[in-house]
Amino acid sequence: MAEDLLGTGREVFFCRRPGRGVGVRRSLVSINDLTNEEVEAVFVGADEMASLLRRGGPLDLCRGKILCTLFYEPSTRTRLSFESAMHRLGGAVLSTENARVSSSAAKGETIRDSVRVVQHYADLLVMRHYLDGSTRVAAECARIPVISGGDGTHEHPTQTLCDLYTMRKEKGKVQGLHVALCGDLRYGRTVHSLAYGLARFGARITCVAPPGFQLPAHVRERLLREYGCRIREFSRLDEAIAGEASAPRRRSGDGLYQDLIEQFDVLYLTRVQKERLPRGEGPALAAESFRLSRALLRKAQEDALVLHPLPRVNELDYDVDEDKRAGYFRQASYGVAVRMALTALFLGVVRSGGFAPGPRPRLSVRSVRVRGVRCINDRCVSLSEPDVRPRFVPAAEAGGLRCAYCEVEVRPPTRGRGELFR
Ligand code: NCD
Repeated sequence: MAEDLLGTGREVFFCRRPGRGVGVRRSLVSINDLTNEEVEAVFVGADEMASLLRRGGPLDLCRGKILCTLFYEPSTRTRLSFESAMHRLGGAVLSTENARVSSSAAKGETIRDSVRVVQHYADLLVMRHYLDGSTRVAAECARIPVISGGDGTHEHPTQTLCDLYTMRKEKGKVQGLHVALCGDLRYGRTVHSLAYGLARFGARITCVAPPGFQLPAHVRERLLREYGCRIREFSRLDEAIAGEASAPRRRSGDGLYQDLIEQFDVLYLTRVQKERLPRGEGPALAAESFRLSRALLRKAQEDALVLHPLPRVNELDYDVDEDKRAGYFRQASYGVAVRMALTALFLGVVRSGGFAPGPRPRLSVRSVRVRGVRCINDRCVSLSEPDVRPRFVPAAEAGGLRCAYCEVEVRPPTRGRGELFR
């Protein structure tokens, strides 16, 4: 009989696994690796973890387990909250916070080779890397679960879980919320996973980004094709809040957008990813068009929630912190409970309604090599690592291919999808 962690007698949704610690045969690289039920299972788990922490812990759910954090890019929240989560669960942590220079990557070792070794030292790997699709490479070759802590400009699924958890906790639910995604929507990975998550849970999305920083075409198209989510776009935050559409307004029959414009339930800000900008693009100048000041926030909805994955640079004024709508430090604090739930689920020490121990058939599409076709994204791992060959899955559009690593869409030169994926 499974043990109820809290002993509350309510439906056991998140409980200690009998014969604990077998591990699960799956990884988390994209938010789309989880079904909606699984996302909900993580949230229920996070609520349970938060409640256990309030009762003082300590927990021993992960005693005898080791988490390895392999970070090739700087991090404060993601790495430390994962490590804190593992410590609070009673497990041990191996940490590499500057793997680009302090691991064998500096000597030219490939991701695959590093992961093949690290998998013998730990039970769970959390990895952050500067190349798009790099964490998929790790997940493909590891025998232990791999959780992405962000890969290049691709995705940051655990940040999205923290973001959605914050919205659910502070706004009751995600469905029906009108969320403004503001900032560097092109190079920022958090907003890519978040846009998918919001669309899947039925939120409405408005994008606010200056020219050159808009959501990439493949993300926008996927939102529309797979989730039926049509986004509205502005180039300035003040215009978006004031409702001065830069695009022509829709007429009455299409009145939906009319009342959406001024009403944002959530303002989600992000910084310009200056480390990913081609030389010459001015980050500070770009940020001016979506900077949230106290004066501008006065014009926003009374109960709007201001979120930011952090770090902030110059897009979010420090005096906004005093406003009750500022939710970003609470958002960061929820990261520990969310990552405790994730760690326990992926290590297989708990089980939860709806969380499958192996990949679901719907979510695992077989990828193939296509002769003569390479990824068109110059940040893609398949172009940089000598032991990674380009692989593709069919994209929804007829004849289209999606890179199995960075998920950018590529059009094959001549042959159609039917022929390629027989
Ligand atoms: C983000 C990241 O690394 O993508 N930070 C985070 O994990 N909270 C956002 C950023 O660096 O701008």
